[in-house]
Amino acid sequence: MSLIAPRMDRIKPSPSSAASQRARELRAAGRKIVGLSSGEPDFDTPSHICEAAVEAMKRGQTRYTTPDGTPELKQAIAGKFKRENGLDYTLDQISVATGAKQVIYNALMASLAAGDEVIVPAPHWVSYTDMTLLAEGVPVVVPCPEDRGFKLQPEDLEAVITPRTKWLILNNPCNPSGAVYTCQEMKAVIDVLLRHPHVYVLTDDIYEHILFDGRQFFTPAQVEPAIYDRTLTVNGVSKAYAMTGWRIGYAGVPRALIKTMAKLQGQSTNNPCSISQAAATAALNGPQGFVPQRSLAFQQRRDRVVELLNQIQGLRCHKPEGAFYMFPNCGALIGRKRPNGARIENDNDLTLYLLEAAEVAVVQGAAYGMSPYFRISIATSTEMLEEGCSRIKRACEQLT
Ligand SMILES: Cc1ncc(COP(=O)(O)O)c(C=O)c1O
Repeated sequence: MSLIAPRMDRIKPSPSSAASQRARELRAAGRKIVGLSSGEPDFDTPSHICEAAVEAMKRGQTRYTTPDGTPELKQAIAGKFKRENGLDYTLDQISVATGAKQVIYNALMASLAAGDEVIVPAPHWVSYTDMTLLAEGVPVVVPCPEDRGFKLQPEDLEAVITPRTKWLILNNPCNPSGAVYTCQEMKAVIDVLLRHPHVYVLTDDIYEHILFDGRQFFTPAQVEPAIYDRTLTVNGVSKAYAMTGWRIGYAGVPRALIKTMAKLQGQSTNNPCSISQAAATAALNGPQGFVPQRSLAFQQRRDRVVELLNQIQGLRCHKPEGAFYMFPNCGALIGRKRPNGARIENDNDLTLYLLEAAEVAVVQGAAYGMSPYFRISIATSTEMLEEGCSRIKRACEQLT
């Protein structure tokens, strides 16, 4: 009898974490790796947020809290939803967890019966499909090609809805494509769901504040109030406030689901870290001016990296509209040969080659359900990005 549960065979380790781990190992072995695989801002957590955590510790806020979040943090989240998204959530509709990742995990585990379908537009964040599988659901991946702006088309959504569809997952701005829905585009997608009242929408808005070229952010329940009761609006402090390690995510949850999510969390991890909750409260209630400034820094890096990538023969890179990733197409390099004669069969081979030959860590598009592409994170210094791009250029030039 195996020690390992059969359900674990359904999922794979997170490819971006695996790429970052490989880069760390190579660094430890003395190699000078340029790491462009990590999904976290390179900025520091602002000092007023850190100070709020210290104050919380001094006050003795070091004990268990309500499993799904302190009233103070829930109040700050309700304030954020109202202020930034025009959404009214009462405190008993708000769930706080150890990262947006746990919110999504809780929601899928608490809602999916075996065989329930979850629509995932591709390219997609790696965890949606694996979490669905773990919860015995069936991911229905819908390709959203580059010539449609990597965005879900209403007719493609309509075509995959069945009586077993439970969720549509949207991620806007999108990791890895950087696609951002306009108000009209979002409305057109949500209008499809109005015709299918059994389908819920999980919107992962974690990159809400990383938006370029003056774009505006729209979330489904704001664009179409009629969908509010069927919407799980997920967000968190990781990306906007450079707080990835603090592990606080949250959501406005349909009333029908909130208690079950709290029950699951109460029987697994219980409350997210009390000190991090105090820090997240300070983040949401505090000054917000640095948030657009950081977004502008990402925009400048995006401009530079798009320019550099498009100078590399064999790569073609669109301009992401938000988030902090580039997603160049590498189709022209597939089928070429490495200096040792080995053929590049797919984007996985290409990223391995880039790691070995150019010492640059990126993540293959296959991990996000779309090939032939790869993902570059721009959450690092411009100097590092320029070095990474020039190494990629040299390595690509050596392919024949
Ligand atoms: C699209 C998306 N959703 C959720 C998360 C997880 O965020 P958190 O740190 O809040 O768990 C990430 C992190 O990379 C992400 O890219």
